[in-house]
Amino acid sequence: MGKKRISNKMEKMLNTQMTREAYQAQVYLSYASWAEVNSFAGIANFLYGHMHEEREHMFKILKYINDRGGEAKIEAIDAAPKNPKNIGDCLQKILQHEIDNSKEIDKIVNLAHEEKDWATFNFGQWFVEEQIEEETLINGIIDKYNLASTEIEGNNNLYEMDRDLSNASQEGDLPREEEF
Ligand code: FEO
Repeated sequence: MGKKRISNKMEKMLNTQMTREAYQAQVYLSYASWAEVNSFAGIANFLYGHMHEEREHMFKILKYINDRGGEAKIEAIDAAPKNPKNIGDCLQKILQHEIDNSKEIDKIVNLAHEEKDWATFNFGQWFVEEQIEEETLINGIIDKYNLASTEIEGNNNLYEMDRDLSNASQEGDLPREEEF
């Protein structure tokens, strides 16, 4: 890979983040399995899918370290956390994992800025963007869960309505009486 083009400090930080992304995958994997065992097939499917995303994040960092002349170190991954209490707890915990992860990504971008390592700064931007998307995605699911789980008679209809509205046309079907 030729001459090393990242600092030792950055190499270490990226390696730690790589293992952290592997841990994120473990979190999603364990929660997905928990959801499946508890008959929430749709949520399990979503979480299994996201587990793959986290593995891709891990691999993306591995490739970057090696491509910049460093060396990715494959290390032990912490055990997954214990099972959540319920779906609401599961979603809140996932959101917290993502928020914590965003803070770690920020540290990488900060160091890259400090070191004027613009290649890593640019690389880090992809993750900054990804974290914004993930936090928004999970927050959106929490909103849906809150709508669906609020114990008001007929409130499940609200959830159905919300789901239908996301694909609804913006154009009305009623004929207009007059044209302006
Ligand atoms: Fe790779 Fe969801 O953080």
